[in-house]
Amino acid sequence: MPVLLREARRNLLAIWNADSYRAPVLDVRTLPRRVVVLNDPAAIQEAFAAQAPAFERKSPQMRHALEPLLGDGLFISDGLVWKRRRPQVQRVTHPSRLAGLVPVMTAVAAEWAQAWDRLPDGSVVDALAEMGRFAAEVICRTLFGSRLGHAAAADVVSSFAAYQARIGNTDILSMLGVPDFIPRLTGLRAAAAARRIQSVVDGLIAAALSGGAESSLVAAMAESGMDQRGFRNEAITLFMAGHETTANALAWTWFLLSENAAAEAEVGAESRRVLGGARAATFDDVERLPWARAVVEEAMRLYPPVPLLARQAWAPAEVAGLRIETGTITIVSPWLVHRHARNWDAPDAFRPARFLPGAPTPARHTYIPFSLGPRVCTGQHFGLYEAIIALATLAGRFRLRPVPGRRAFPVARLTLRPGEALPLRLERRR
Ligand code: HEM
Repeated sequence: MPVLLREARRNLLAIWNADSYRAPVLDVRTLPRRVVVLNDPAAIQEAFAAQAPAFERKSPQMRHALEPLLGDGLFISDGLVWKRRRPQVQRVTHPSRLAGLVPVMTAVAAEWAQAWDRLPDGSVVDALAEMGRFAAEVICRTLFGSRLGHAAAADVVSSFAAYQARIGNTDILSMLGVPDFIPRLTGLRAAAAARRIQSVVDGLIAAALSGGAESSLVAAMAESGMDQRGFRNEAITLFMAGHETTANALAWTWFLLSENAAAEAEVGAESRRVLGGARAATFDDVERLPWARAVVEEAMRLYPPVPLLARQAWAPAEVAGLRIETGTITIVSPWLVHRHARNWDAPDAFRPARFLPGAPTPARHTYIPFSLGPRVCTGQHFGLYEAIIALATLAGRFRLRPVPGRRAFPVARLTLRPGEALPLRLERRR
């Protein structure tokens, strides 16, 4: 196996070199397949927005990794299925429904603050696992209602972790150009874990429907007329797309604050001013928490939860003067774009002030944590509100400090994680 593929299998970030952070476009032919990487904002707009239909199809790696679990779920579907389902799924977390969805986040944040309050000062917590459970709790309660979601969250999280462990990192056969109809070992290995998640979710849907449709997803399905299997696939898609991304954004936020005392003090002081160091943040508080928002946004710039948007060209296209043949893997990497020398001043520095009110708006398509164009994340407002509410609620009462000798190292698989765990020391604010 070529060295580059071996590296990519361990950590997708390892494939970039210094030039990747300066070039407008990379045309890589050292892999068995041609891979085009678009860094230039105008080229990104051309491919993912102006010529979106040619770049609608996800890469074969992504499809093979997720198909056993998501079936025709929105994250990996394309063509007519994607077109029909997109408005149905988009409605579930539409900004106009946000005020009704945020109380779940506020309630879970309050429970987390109580749980942290029971820990002795100086305890070491795994911030990655904590935020993973937090986000799973929020999305499960949002999808299935508070009663069912609460009991199901842990079950779905552990099955999902088993699934991820089985699909591994990258689908080497697809990188080598092996056609889609050849079954992948990863798919076969993951099938049992996928069935387990599917049966848990089927049970939740049945229980939610028989117990009165109090949850937003059940209500949305009732309105949209989606069939049972499609509904289940979209429920799992929302769980998957909505929980690990937000969890990673929050974990990186805590990591960056643990290393930056000045920003940490600003977020803590703001939270105490707005929430009095006692209550959890609500929907109306969010506009009064500019520091919490700026820190989350800057964390997603430095550590975008989805570091790579990979497509397989569906039709021939021309982007930035390059001919792209059908089948070419075309990548937009928020990781590269967010650290690109042409786009950002001191790109590797943590400077939340870039996102405070009054700061210049980043140039178009230089800040793309939620992607762009017709396939933009449907949960972007939901995810951002959730992260701000969790951070502000907890940061008013606690700070997380580094554990000497432990460093966080970014590892990119489907999402960008700080390794397998992020141990930090919990301190009460006095
Ligand atoms: C901080 C949190 C989040 C981040 C950074 C994020 C990021 C993204 C990105 C980059 C994509 C596009 C992936 C690609 O094109 O390959 C995406 C798609 C998607 N996201 Fe999110 N996401 C977040 C939270 C959420 C939440 C909370 C939900 C739902 C509750 C959600 C639902 C979706 C769905 C359904 C798609 C597929 C859209 C489509 O293909 O049409 N996301 N997300």
